[in-house]
Amino acid sequence: MSTPASDVITDSSALMDERVLVLDFGSQYAQLIARRVREQNVYCQIVRHDISAERIAEYAPRGIILSGGPSSVYEDGAPRCDPKLFELGIPVLGICYGMQLACDALGGSVQHTPSREYGRAHCEVTDAADLFDGLPTNMQVWMSHGDQVSSVGEMFHAQARTETCPFAAVKHASLPVYGLQFHPEVTHTPEGKQLLRNFVLRVCGCTGKWQLSDFAEETIGQIREIVGDRRVICGLSGGVDSSVVAALLYKAIGPQLACILVDNGLLRKAEQADVVKAFTEHFKADLHVVDAGPQFMEALEGISEPQEKRRRIGHQFIEAFKSEATKIESAHFLAQGTLYPDVIESGAAQDGPAATIKLHHNVGGLPEELGFELIEPLRDLFKDEVRRLGIELGLPEDLVWRHPFPGPGLAVRCLGEITEEKLAVLREADAIVVEEVKAAGLYRQTSQTFAVLLPVQSVGVMGDARTYDNCVAVRSVDTDDFMTADWSRLPYDLLAKISTRIINEVKGVNRVCYDISSKPPATIEWE
Ligand code: XMP
Repeated sequence: MSTPASDVITDSSALMDERVLVLDFGSQYAQLIARRVREQNVYCQIVRHDISAERIAEYAPRGIILSGGPSSVYEDGAPRCDPKLFELGIPVLGICYGMQLACDALGGSVQHTPSREYGRAHCEVTDAADLFDGLPTNMQVWMSHGDQVSSVGEMFHAQARTETCPFAAVKHASLPVYGLQFHPEVTHTPEGKQLLRNFVLRVCGCTGKWQLSDFAEETIGQIREIVGDRRVICGLSGGVDSSVVAALLYKAIGPQLACILVDNGLLRKAEQADVVKAFTEHFKADLHVVDAGPQFMEALEGISEPQEKRRRIGHQFIEAFKSEATKIESAHFLAQGTLYPDVIESGAAQDGPAATIKLHHNVGGLPEELGFELIEPLRDLFKDEVRRLGIELGLPEDLVWRHPFPGPGLAVRCLGEITEEKLAVLREADAIVVEEVKAAGLYRQTSQTFAVLLPVQSVGVMGDARTYDNCVAVRSVDTDDFMTADWSRLPYDLLAKISTRIINEVKGVNRVCYDISSKPPATIEWE
């Protein structure tokens, strides 16, 4: 459940018997590869690229995937894997840099390509075995490389080629080692899913033991064992992660769980009511709602600088949470919705890669001084798995599919100084945006959709009267990882409806804009 630094492989559940390891060479897609493997119901773990072959053998994985990466194999200091891993007899799939590395290690050579190949390419399959079993002879693939394998000697043969890349896919003559120059993990390679499926099921021989229903059952058992007769506190935010943690704990320990929802007065419309409904109707949880809005408003008075807003909100949150938590007798544990990507990116995963530099928005988490032992039952899961688990546990779909919402809430969407009046305007406008996007059936296709209240007034005319009112920006983005994002191409008619409704229904708004900035250079939030 939590992973202490030790030499013992701690997550040795039967669900993980069939494990695939992804060696991370700094690819932006390492997590995506792991998610794609898990979609085949096979447990997949990301590990350091230089993990020793001996250590790999201890994991006894069914397959190894060497990820892509930004380096060139012929450069000094390029990250390499332990060459002995190719002798373990475990199937290996190298992707892009991973393929170049495998070929380089096993007698082939790699060269810089004069024209960097980036984007869609047409690939012709010349040996439809193994990875390509059941796939069409001609397919579209996604390339992103400046180097490619230039010769493979006797040891490999090509399974596919493109116009500019004679070795788009290779297979070793005697070892179970395969390479793909293109990226099967991205959706721009439409057959990529089947390719990975062929690797995991056909080549590695996995049967698909990683089932979330079994994970839930097993985790519930572990929670009961760890917790005993003590109590656990879980902070609810209205978001999917904390809701799933609470649902899982509730199933495990029922009344020994106490949930705390701090309403900071910066939540979306009806958010408190939705959470209360989910956790008191379906689960009869011991739910403590702290109505702390006035304290937060007081702390934010006169503050317009975003980081200062965050700092004050973080501080108030700790105060409010702490004072409620101390009322819960014999509480020993604090449950948190830490997910696998958090564990990986913070460098805390067992045998995992070093921490990546990531911007941490949350100033002030819950301090250690609270004195609780942490319980993090989702630390092996990706977000999509958490959602599926939430459904499995009986949480309402609306809650499970809710877009992410920042900890400081509407405070960073109400630009400049915050007042109750501004928050009320924003709440109504935001509710219309979300309602209309849902009605158009586009909520799940977009990653984060919301309204922002701008600190500008502009002139308008309503009826015969001239107005001088607020402007609302609508923001909707599509993204896989929230590190980069593109603005959603929402249909004009939908935007028209959103705009008309906001201007007609929300008093104080006479203008609506659609934000068409991608990230980078813009961010998703406006503050
Ligand atoms: P940006 O605006 O940096 O946001 O592109 C990326 C993701 O992070 C969320 N976000 C926050 N989450 N506390 C949070 O818990 C924050 O202060 C915060 N600021 C941004 C944002 O909603 C998006 O999902």
